[in-house]
Amino acid sequence: MINNKLLSLLALCSLRASASVTVRKTGEGPTGYEVDFKYVNTTANRVLIGGGLQPFTDQFHTTLEERAWYDPHDYQPGDFYVAFGSPPDGYEWPYEMTSDGDGVWTYTTPLPSGIYSYAYLIDCDFAPACNIETGQLVIDSDLPPFLNVQGDQVASSFQVPFDACFQGTDDINADFDYALPAPDKYRGTIKSVNYTSPGSIHPAPDVHHFGLYLPAEYGTIEGKTYPLLYLSHGAGGNGNDWENLGRMSYIMDNLIAEGHIEPTVVVMPSFYNLDDSLPKFIYGGPIDFSALPSSDHIRENYQQYLFPWVEENIANVCTEPACRAFAGLSWGGRLTYEMYVNATDSFDYYGMFSPATDTPTLSNETLAANPALADKGLFVAYGLYDSVFENGRELQAALSALEIPFVTRITPFGGHYWNTWQDELWWFGVKALWKPKPFTARTGRASS
Ligand SMILES: *[C@@H]1O[C@H](CO)[C@@H](O)[C@H](O)[C@H]1NC(C)=O
Ligand SMILES: *[C@@H]1O[C@H](CO)[C@@H](O)[C@H](O)[C@H]1NC(C)=O
Ligand SMILES: *[C@@H]1O[C@H](CO)[C@@H](O)[C@H](O)[C@H]1NC(C)=O
Ligand SMILES: *[C@@H]1O[C@H](CO)[C@@H](O)[C@H](O)[C@H]1NC(C)=O
Repeated sequence: MINNKLLSLLALCSLRASASVTVRKTGEGPTGYEVDFKYVNTTANRVLIGGGLQPFTDQFHTTLEERAWYDPHDYQPGDFYVAFGSPPDGYEWPYEMTSDGDGVWTYTTPLPSGIYSYAYLIDCDFAPACNIETGQLVIDSDLPPFLNVQGDQVASSFQVPFDACFQGTDDINADFDYALPAPDKYRGTIKSVNYTSPGSIHPAPDVHHFGLYLPAEYGTIEGKTYPLLYLSHGAGGNGNDWENLGRMSYIMDNLIAEGHIEPTVVVMPSFYNLDDSLPKFIYGGPIDFSALPSSDHIRENYQQYLFPWVEENIANVCTEPACRAFAGLSWGGRLTYEMYVNATDSFDYYGMFSPATDTPTLSNETLAANPALADKGLFVAYGLYDSVFENGRELQAALSALEIPFVTRITPFGGHYWNTWQDELWWFGVKALWKPKPFTARTGRASS
């Protein structure tokens, strides 16, 4: 007995870690802000900060395949981060912590405006390849991620404000302060919700989950109903991504506070594990692209279980297409296109963010058979350095060929990552969501 108790105490002690992140305004270059990381681990030999934190690049040195790989200490106005890609030989990951010899690891770096997600990488040399299952990736327990069940998210996040003295440029206005907290009276609520979804294999049999954003005003005005936006994650993600990695609740608060959209309820579903037709997918391991469900499979499941459940169980949400929208990033942008084509009557607004679409099959015949396709509030966005740049352009070309109006946003610092998707959500709200139709040059350049 005593031995067991002692053993579990010992186990607790050796597992205990303290970690923290501090964002400090410095009023000095290179960015006007510095971030201090502290992490305690007495057994680690080397600790990197990765899990989402990227090196930087600039427009002159960036293409779809290449980037400059700047250390943020060398930041210059106009630099930005672009996710992924393989660094050249001999390249050093910039975020390496130093130890005081007693297991206290620290690192200080300047960073420009934006959201950064991170985890500690233990004795693992190439940041993008470190894995939670093998203990190479450790989540900061002092700043736990927004999630439903343990394992649903594998990185924490923090936000750095914009300082125009050090970060401002005319060509790239990479100011992400719309993802900082809005005044208190606009602060909505964000939570994780389980719903009944027969066949679901996660987080429990026949139970599935979504993230739910309720605007601050929700529930304060008797009988008022709210427009409803469905917002999807992409491949390798889940319904907690938009909040945990993209701070969507702050973005929504600010869109509402600044009068760009009326208060809106947002449901962020999860498209993995809806049934057992594919291997179970849980965050944190390598992404298995063979386990990616097809868009029509997801659509049918949502139509059967999710949409009716939301209508029945979330009070005061709009049930008319005019105040319902579907949007999503990457594979979720592809799903949005699927909804546009095959659930046309359910939504009047569609936001295709960096959509991983195939060559669209839209034709005069599809349009003749479904004329409502021409009468929707469409928004198609992607980044200038986005891996789906061509997919987005093809989709726009197909819409233009049929003279279907849409709003475009091409993110000038955009790779296939969260800074681009935040920008897309922001501009979707500013230029497209719930705006009068048909879209015209005033909402953005459409086909003419
Ligand atoms: C400390 O590092 C080891 C690897 O040396 C890792 O297995 C362990 O999870 C880390 N502990 C904490 C508390 O982060
Ligand atoms: C959802 O269900 C899972 C599995 O039963 C549970 O662990 C989790 O706490 C539930 N989440 C919420 C928000 O109720
Ligand atoms: C829409 O439905 C049709 C008929 O079921 C299907 O062939 C097609 O793949 C679906 N999706 C799109 C984007 O056309
Ligand atoms: C659709 O029909 C119009 C009028 O017949 C034609 O000019 C146009 O090229 C057609 N578009 C596509 C994409 O087939």
